[in-house]
Amino acid sequence: MAALDHAALLLRSRAGLKAEPVSRARLERLLQESANLAGIPIDEYVSMVDTQPAAFADLLDRVTVQHSAFFRDPAQFVALAEIVRKAADGPHTVWSAGCGNGQEPYSLAMLLDETGRRNWQVVATDVSFHALAQAEKARYTEREVEGLSHERRRRYLTSAPGGYEIVPSLRRSVRIAHHNLARADASSVVPESIVVFCRNVLMYFGREESETCIQRIANRIAPGGYLFLGHSDSPGRMTQYFEPVRMAGALCYRRLVAAAPIAPSVGTRAGDRRPPRDPRGLLTEGDRAAANGDLRAAVRAFRQATFLDPNLAIAYFQLGAALELAGDPREARRAFGAAGLAMMKGDGSEDLAGLGGYTRRDLASAIAFKLTRTK
Ligand SMILES: C[S@@+](CC[C@H](N)C(=O)[O-])C[C@H]1O[C@@H](n2cnc3c(N)ncnc32)[C@H](O)[C@@H]1O
Repeated sequence: MAALDHAALLLRSRAGLKAEPVSRARLERLLQESANLAGIPIDEYVSMVDTQPAAFADLLDRVTVQHSAFFRDPAQFVALAEIVRKAADGPHTVWSAGCGNGQEPYSLAMLLDETGRRNWQVVATDVSFHALAQAEKARYTEREVEGLSHERRRRYLTSAPGGYEIVPSLRRSVRIAHHNLARADASSVVPESIVVFCRNVLMYFGREESETCIQRIANRIAPGGYLFLGHSDSPGRMTQYFEPVRMAGALCYRRLVAAAPIAPSVGTRAGDRRPPRDPRGLLTEGDRAAANGDLRAAVRAFRQATFLDPNLAIAYFQLGAALELAGDPREARRAFGAAGLAMMKGDGSEDLAGLGGYTRRDLASAIAFKLTRTK
């Protein structure tokens, strides 16, 4: 459909967002709904999106996934605490790039407050005005504050209609601003930062857009500063700017002082035939391949991970998702079934790092959802 192609092109060229089979189907539904609401044909609606910034912003609000959680992927926050402890006296900036509904920047602000450093600030940016409005409002339901300990709730929340609100003192330590990571350098919005959290954003980007975005972020990180990504993000080449380091059990990327010569990225290029031999590496490889649209390679990597560790529920789950996307619902269902079995056999200690900090319960409900839906 020409209107769908046109809208997909606008989203890619203006916001970096790729259109995979699943997101294309969703986009088609959203376009149809919006056109119906506006009472105009779909191609007229897409022309409006093309020419009127407000219409484009509205579509972007609806297309982007703004979901977040407090202290999502806790190990990364432990690593941040270590960075803060070792850092020279401030002032310093921590940038939450693609902040969603605000739980990420407020989690960062809570952690900084707990370390007792007063001269650190958090800057939170997003392309979606809806997400920014939510972050500004700083109101969350009981379900949304689930990731917060009793003590943090006591210190940083007050009750508000329908749930909770972040206390004013913490809200003041977070500056919220609009910024499109796919379009422009952030120098006018964010000072040079010692730490950048850009999590669960690049997974929606096309490969080239992702690489350009990494370069722009690198330009805003002080040498020796750190970048944290989500587990499903596919940054592409970054060895020119960063070296991977493990800190407090979390993988992050340290900004090189001088740019290194460009080296081929590991495991993603056609010429590189050496698959990583540990299940975690294979999960990452599978995620990357899926994000780049290479579903065969994704299926292969996730399957290898299940061979290496037959108890890894997340590997079966990712395999099922990749098979589903590749148009093989029967095999997908088998994989989701195996994920359910592995979950039941597990003793509860399975490391769910591959799921970006989601809990065991989240994985169990995702598997149940898939099994009831995939016939
Ligand atoms: C799933 S949320 C991630 C929120 C938070 N970082 C986390 O991990 O919990 C993804 C966010 O990326 C934002 N986003 C998508 N494309 C973007 C772009 N081109 N520039 C800035 N933000 C973008 C979306 O609006 C959305 O709020």
